[in-house]
Amino acid sequence: EKGGYDHFMLKEIFEQPQTIFDSLRGRLDAKAGKLTLGGLREHTDLLKEANRIIIVACGTSWHAGLVAEYMIEELCRIPVEVEYASEFRYRNPVVGKGDVIIAVSQSGETADTLVAMESAKEKGAIILGVCNVVGSSIARLSHAGVYTHAGPEIGVASTKAFTAQLAVLALIGLKVAVEKGTITEQRFQHLLDELEDVSDKVAIALELNEQVKKIADKYKDARDFLYLGRGYNFPVALEGALKLKEISYIHAEGYPAAEMKHGPIALVDENLPVVFVATKDSYYEKIVSNIQEIKARKGMVIAITTEGDQIIPGMADDVIVVPEADELVAPIISVIPLQLLAYHIGVLKGLDVDKPRNLAKSVTVE
Ligand code: M6R
Repeated sequence: EKGGYDHFMLKEIFEQPQTIFDSLRGRLDAKAGKLTLGGLREHTDLLKEANRIIIVACGTSWHAGLVAEYMIEELCRIPVEVEYASEFRYRNPVVGKGDVIIAVSQSGETADTLVAMESAKEKGAIILGVCNVVGSSIARLSHAGVYTHAGPEIGVASTKAFTAQLAVLALIGLKVAVEKGTITEQRFQHLLDELEDVSDKVAIALELNEQVKKIADKYKDARDFLYLGRGYNFPVALEGALKLKEISYIHAEGYPAAEMKHGPIALVDENLPVVFVATKDSYYEKIVSNIQEIKARKGMVIAITTEGDQIIPGMADDVIVVPEADELVAPIISVIPLQLLAYHIGVLKGLDVDKPRNLAKSVTVE
């Protein structure tokens, strides 16, 4: 049942080229320049006219929501808020007609997300679900939605569900943008092509497995880790830190790289590994100077970079090179080595990576 892999987590990490493809299949037709999202039906119009989109989720799904905030604001010019479901539901939020809630959940059973949706629905908001489990409570409570087709996820740490969420949220953003006219035809076609290619690039990133394992061995005894990224890669840094915490029990924090100087930089010394998600994008030069700031304080830098990068390899202690992609789809690729890093550190420490202590696969209690 683990398909020859030692753990479900590794099997699921390696399934991603297929699960991303499955999540795009029948929806994305890059050659014809077309996008079909049957699940949204008449709600595409409501999304197009939304005053505001509020994404509610927990954990890894919340990180996918953060990436979607960047995507949807850029593509659709609609204000997006991303809320921890547990906070949103308890604070009597200002929400009602004209608001569209997107609930993102692998299991579709997360209690906090479910209740957050219920209260927004009562107040007149339209609810869309992005779920992986067909017929789950969240899917049933939604007015409409788009399923991720990641297949059953057994490992407690979410991996393939995350990349499927990113793919589906990109499709939603693109669909609304093209209907609303907030994207040029050229950019639309370019992003369709980029999404079409992303599965193959993920497959290439998975070839880094042995290299990442060596890096895991080098850093496995660190007490703390810092993960930094900017823009579309900022939520990837958060996700990398969450994976490491869950699987290896090493304390890790993710931050937007520029926030570092407002506090976390005080932690940096020769014992602190700092993982930079630093692929080539519009923030590249800024992140290069953030790497310099860490090196000047003797931190150890592990950098996720893009093929052809001439600068970062000369600065970092370890470099993990992933295929180039448009910044909007880059998180689908740049998260892969971070999943592998957490996995290998957990295994090297002799931990039960499929069932980390104190965690449940779906959190059905508030
Ligand atoms: O099933 P959901 O996507 O609603 O679950 C949300 C979180 O509980 C989940 O992502 C959790 O953070 C994972 N253990 C992360 O790996």
